[in-house]
Amino acid sequence: MTRVLYATLAAGLLATAGYSHAQNDPLQVRSWAAGCANCHGTNGHAEQGMPPLAGKSQADITEKLLAYKSGAAPSTIMQQLAKGYSDDQLAAIAGYLSAQKK
Ligand code: HEC
Repeated sequence: MTRVLYATLAAGLLATAGYSHAQNDPLQVRSWAAGCANCHGTNGHAEQGMPPLAGKSQADITEKLLAYKSGAAPSTIMQQLAKGYSDDQLAAIAGYLSAQKK
């Protein structure tokens, strides 16, 4: 019984870690964006001096993220983070953040 439970949990974790092939499922996008909240604040409201993201346009955020990914924009950490997502995923995350109220 316990083993079945663990197997189910593990499968769930793998699915949320991006192994599912569903394209930009809203819940999936929200969980990606949750990873940004550690630094940029809950739902894009920044705390402790990090740039706020909520309410910026999707185009602006996407452009920044792609520039970090390619190395065109200087960054301390965003370059490493941006490389972890496909261009499509970055655009979806940007869309989610831009839809959050300032
Ligand atoms: C470990 C902390 C951290 C995490 C996690 C993080 N960021 Fe950042 N972000 C930064 C810092 C610091 C900067 C300033 C540029 C730099 O030095 O990398 C930044 C800059 C940005 C900018 C540019 C903002 C501006 O107005 O110039 C965008 C857009 C951005 N991050 C988006 C994201 C997204 C989307 C995620 C989630 C996928 C994310 N960040 C996760 C720390 C973080």
